[in-house]
Amino acid sequence: MSDSTHGGRLAGKVAVITGAGSGIGRASALLFAREGAQVVCGDISGRQDKTAADIGDAAIAVQVDVAKSAEVQRMIDTAVNSFGRLDVLFNNAGMSGDRGPIAELDENSFDTVVAVNLKGAFLGMKYAIPKMLASGGGSVINTASASALVGWKGIAAYAAAKGGIVQLTKSAALDYATQNIRVNAICPGMTWTGLANAPEDSDPPTDIVPPQPMKRWGRADELASAALFLASDEASFITGTAIPVDGGYVAR
Ligand SMILES: NC(=O)c1ccc[n+]([C@@H]2O[C@H](COP(=O)([O-])OP(=O)(O)OC[C@H]3O[C@@H](n4cnc5c(N)ncnc54)[C@H](O)[C@@H]3O)[C@@H](O)[C@H]2O)c1
Repeated sequence: MSDSTHGGRLAGKVAVITGAGSGIGRASALLFAREGAQVVCGDISGRQDKTAADIGDAAIAVQVDVAKSAEVQRMIDTAVNSFGRLDVLFNNAGMSGDRGPIAELDENSFDTVVAVNLKGAFLGMKYAIPKMLASGGGSVINTASASALVGWKGIAAYAAAKGGIVQLTKSAALDYATQNIRVNAICPGMTWTGLANAPEDSDPPTDIVPPQPMKRWGRADELASAALFLASDEASFITGTAIPVDGGYVAR
């Protein structure tokens, strides 16, 4: 599917994408490859194999739990060993966790949501940034959420982890601002993916829509487009941002 010899917005770049088995991560892997990148598709589910197979020679699948340090390190090493360098890291894997008022949230569930949604991005950067420095720079994109920017009833652990992603992003951006490594976050609004219990590749319903000013669900490909822009050299002066891609949700 990819053909870096014919250019593209990510021609010659190597990208690692987590959560690439489904939703935003899968759409991003397919799009990045169409734009000329070689892609490591990481996921815990096994579905990363299909994403990589759909791309072809320009992709590799890696089974990874992003909350586990050794597994994340192995995924990053696989990218460099297979494709020779690392330019883009899209820390996108995430889970919703239990819902309910905070006094009723289970402690183990809180820890798991923070480990996957926040620590996972830390581990990705910890192991990827030295490789990026070795190849002259890079771009990190972290998937936060609209719930990182406004309070959100019933999902305190998730919102706290995603809020942490925004600060992790800004702080990492400052750490590496002079070393040609950009770090940005995207903040999806309600998007029609597995996280919203959507069947893969199904169209969003138009009869039941979330309370977003555009009065519709976001689509995985719309988030992938934002990630592509931040990954590409078109965003060369953009670092430390948290960009809502949310149909206007946080603007209300
Ligand atoms: N869909 C939404 O409405 C929405 C809104 C805001 C933020 N987000 C964020 O977008 C990101 C992508 O989610 P999505 O909407 O595409 O949902 P999704 O469920 O379709 O995809 C998430 C993927 O992450 C993988 N994953 C979960 N835990 C993992 C782990 N420990 N290690 C590796 N992979 C793991 C899952 O297997 C799945 O393939 C997530 O970070 C999510 O929190 C989604």
